[in-house]
Amino acid sequence: MDNLSSKVEHCISSEIPRISTLKDLDECKHRFLGKSGLIILELKKLSALSVDEKKSFGQQINSFKDILIDAFEKQKAVIEEKEVEKKLSSELVDLTLPPRDNVAGSVHPITHVKRQVLEIFSSMGFTFRDGPEIETDYYNFTALNIPEHHPARAMHDTFYMEDENIVLRTHTSSVQIRSMENNKPPFKFISMGRTYRCDYDATHTPMFHQIEGVYIDKNINMSHLKGCLNDFLGKFFDKSDISIRMRPSYFPFTEPSAEVDISIAKSNNWLEILGCGMVHPNVLRNVGLNPEEYQGFAFGMGIERITMLKYGMKDLRPFFDGDLRWSKKFGFSAFDIPSLIKDVIG
Ligand code: DAH
Repeated sequence: MDNLSSKVEHCISSEIPRISTLKDLDECKHRFLGKSGLIILELKKLSALSVDEKKSFGQQINSFKDILIDAFEKQKAVIEEKEVEKKLSSELVDLTLPPRDNVAGSVHPITHVKRQVLEIFSSMGFTFRDGPEIETDYYNFTALNIPEHHPARAMHDTFYMEDENIVLRTHTSSVQIRSMENNKPPFKFISMGRTYRCDYDATHTPMFHQIEGVYIDKNINMSHLKGCLNDFLGKFFDKSDISIRMRPSYFPFTEPSAEVDISIAKSNNWLEILGCGMVHPNVLRNVGLNPEEYQGFAFGMGIERITMLKYGMKDLRPFFDGDLRWSKKFGFSAFDIPSLIKDVIG
């Protein structure tokens, strides 16, 4: 018993206070209080003693046990507190440091405008259709009533692939054909996406974006077209005092064809903004429709153009230069998402 007493004494006064890790503390605890630790060994010895001795030694051993448990608990708290302090001092925030740069990115104006356009046309009952950017000659030209050797092909500065039947689409009008063929009207859709032409200056880049719209049903006429564009442009430019005018024009895939100009606040300052017309009977025939039964309109516009007009940008080229200063100036907050699109993209 004296032996145990001096070991416990030693453990409490000099061993435990020096222990600095929970692992070492556990090991020491095990030595005294574990299944084959000193305390159990002493308790086992009691069986050889008389009843009175058992009682008094038993009490002593139990009090050593309580003292030890208490000492281990206290040291455990000391070690844990030291660890927290160590962590706190190593993770200390230096409040005197200058703040980091705000590195949040911004939404590219093209993406932002595409979302706005989709929102507006969706509210007018249009759905969205997509089509490939690498297109066949047939969908890009022939089916749109632009046969081979037609002068309109020369206007398009087309990128041809090695196989001359494959092109980078020069406009989104090709989606008209893909969406209408083998389907039954009514058709009321828009398409948006990248288009390509071999051209480069302040108002042309080899890759740009277009919006294409189509509405085909029985009895659709030019006044529907004008009403639709009037509504869209008014909403897009967020102006109630917008005027539009249609000038006769020529596109092989529409008859009659028109170019649309807008003017804001009756300024007499007209800006050309898009091309449109009544879908040509040949185009309707090419997708298997009877032009006597179905008619409708189509329109196409450049996304960069309406973006530049709305946000006062002068040069088209920086849209695709990837210059962060430009993105900061013209980009949009990631939280600035039209409500309807927000539902779709989450
Ligand atoms: N595809 C024409 C272009 O790229 C734009 C266009 C004009 C599309 C009239 C149309 C349309 O659907 O009806 O210049």
